[in-house]
Amino acid sequence: MNPLLSRLQPYPFERLKQLFSGVTPNPAYRAISLGIGEPKHPTPAFIKQALAAAMDIPGSDLAGYPPTAGSPELRAACAAWMQRRYGLALDAATQVLPVNGSREALFAFAQTVIDPTRPAVVVCPNPFYQIYEGAALLAGADAYYAPSDPRRNFAVDWDSVPEATWAKTQLLYVCSPGNPTGAVMPLDEWRKLFALQDRHGFVIASDECYSEIYFRDEAPLGGLEAAAKLGRGDFRGLVAFTSLSKRSNVPGMRSGFVAGDAALLKQFLLYRTYHGSAMSPIVQAASVAAWKDEAHVVENRDLYRRKFAQVTPLLETVLDVRLPDAGFYLWAGVRGSDTAFARDLLAQYNVTVLPGSYLAREARGGNPGAGRVRMALVADTAECLEAAQRIVQFVQNRS
Ligand SMILES: Cc1ncc(COP(=O)(O)O)c(C=O)c1O
Repeated sequence: MNPLLSRLQPYPFERLKQLFSGVTPNPAYRAISLGIGEPKHPTPAFIKQALAAAMDIPGSDLAGYPPTAGSPELRAACAAWMQRRYGLALDAATQVLPVNGSREALFAFAQTVIDPTRPAVVVCPNPFYQIYEGAALLAGADAYYAPSDPRRNFAVDWDSVPEATWAKTQLLYVCSPGNPTGAVMPLDEWRKLFALQDRHGFVIASDECYSEIYFRDEAPLGGLEAAAKLGRGDFRGLVAFTSLSKRSNVPGMRSGFVAGDAALLKQFLLYRTYHGSAMSPIVQAASVAAWKDEAHVVENRDLYRRKFAQVTPLLETVLDVRLPDAGFYLWAGVRGSDTAFARDLLAQYNVTVLPGSYLAREARGGNPGAGRVRMALVADTAECLEAAQRIVQFVQNRS
């Protein structure tokens, strides 16, 4: 067996299952889960129709192998979206590549980029999306966890990474808007990272899968947008990961794309050809329809905005929490043990939340997720409101 497999950590939901084993949820309440960060708003009808219709379109049907690079139509639709969203003129042939959701791409990218014959470090935020860590370990690199700072809107403290670590860094994952913090990286943070990149020569993977769900007036700054603003219009050493899953409520479709440095994407395409990562032509056709439409995205964002506007003030009365910049999570301080909070909340009120310490690693004397829980407000507003009301009662009865 590949010995690197033994370095993988249990997934947060496995740890949650263990934490909850032996707990009997209060049967007086029906179960509500704020645990899993999976979109639950309905898939727009026109996307389902596009999927069904593609079956009968020669070239988009199931009768042939799809090219790993994706159809020219899909690449053009992705590039056109980048133009509308960020004002960037990308070359659809070389600077855009469809992927089967951002998760597999984030993982595969490390396998493409990392040279394990040299000292290899992958830097990622802490807390973080666990795929970054698994991707680093299976590529033969070590992960370095840079803590997010609650006093600076959960911005990652890049200054805390030692110079000697940056010197060995081959790949940096950033996540903006962040999971679980919801923090959006401002231009100054990008400036800092690009300066570090120029000094040390690492590649930046910018995970932007929550970019379309935001609560401020201004849409989140994208990595490529930041690069262009800072005079790096060739996107050297930078690839952004974008997904339809959250934007269009189609996590089951497995569709996204990467964009950026053409030289990196060329190597990534080579890797993907061997890995067998072509997207189904049916999914490609429906993805074209999804990327071309913005009305459903506005509607979806409004739904989250209305939901967060109702739920957050309730929880603010009892927890250390506030409206995030973006994303669909609340990242709440519970003033005590996050695991005890999650376990007792399930036992007494049948509400599931994810302990923050499961989303982060103990590093340099602390776990930046400890004392916090992540609540995914993905269910409908009534259910999220009911969960919030139960959490308020729970906290009031505890103290
Ligand atoms: C931060 C982050 N990145 C990437 C993904 C992967 O999403 P998908 O593969 O559906 O695009 C997720 C999914 O939850 C996520 O939270």
